[in-house]
Amino acid sequence: MSYEVPVVHTVREMRARVGAWRAGGARIGLVPTMGALHAGHISLVEAARRHAERVIATVFVNPTQFAPGEDFSRYPRTLPADCEKLAAVKADLVFAPAVEEMYPAGFCTTVSLEGPAKADLEDRFRPTHFPGVATVVAKLLNQAQADVAVFGEKDYQQLRVIETMARDLDIATRIFGAATLRDPDGLAMSSRNVYLSAEDRARAPALHRALSEAAERIAEGAAIGAVMEEARAAITAAGFAIDYVEARDARTLARVADRSEGPIRILAAARLGATRLIDNVAVDA
Ligand code: PAJ
Repeated sequence: MSYEVPVVHTVREMRARVGAWRAGGARIGLVPTMGALHAGHISLVEAARRHAERVIATVFVNPTQFAPGEDFSRYPRTLPADCEKLAAVKADLVFAPAVEEMYPAGFCTTVSLEGPAKADLEDRFRPTHFPGVATVVAKLLNQAQADVAVFGEKDYQQLRVIETMARDLDIATRIFGAATLRDPDGLAMSSRNVYLSAEDRARAPALHRALSEAAERIAEGAAIGAVMEEARAAITAAGFAIDYVEARDARTLARVADRSEGPIRILAAARLGATRLIDNVAVDA
């Protein structure tokens, strides 16, 4: 019979499994997701596997990171298909809690953030997003007590927020970032790409193309301000409404004027119709 990945829905059940694995000397890896899994998520499971004998994927559409009017209720929920994909890469456990398991009556604690969470990027457009992300990730890390947890560079600001939180709160789990998986035309894989119309899907790769070109030109020594203006113009010309397209310090996410200030990351969010896409690329040093 083909392998079926076990699914648990409570913290208690997950801890029982983890306790038994740990007693047997296994290292534990954690891959938090909101489900609707694609190859990008699966690559995180494979990355976790390189550091751990046992890998847990969590599937939880976290209500506290969605603002009213965002897509919480229509976010795709595909647990049976997710479990099949996770079984194919031999994930050891799926933790799929109900909202009441994560936020029981009386829940009233939120992680408060500064630093990379207040970079005037995603936080400008989604001010309640990172407190919701950080709180649920802190909970997941405490619940699983994993040795390592893997997050995608696709959500670059999120990765920096989580790394900073784990450091500041002395969370023992080591945080790893993993490269963004893309469709062959360059579009970053995202659960939200299913919202794109055929016409918008054809336009979508222009975002990554513009960011890559900008990164190359900055690496060659072109002035950051001028390059970013051109990138914004190209993205707008492709039919996007831009939220932000910025070159930032890759660690702090602070504004940078010159390449000599250190490693640079170019980050963008832009809308095609009702669908908001985010992407980012590194500037080679
Ligand atoms: P979600 O959007 O489901 O993403 C889960 C993880 O997959 C994140 O670490 C994200 O960066 C990574 N990921 C998404 N697209 C990717 C791609 N194309 N290539 C590689 N990795 C990719 O991010 C979240 O969920 C939530 O905010 C979460 C951290 C689970 C907290 O609720």
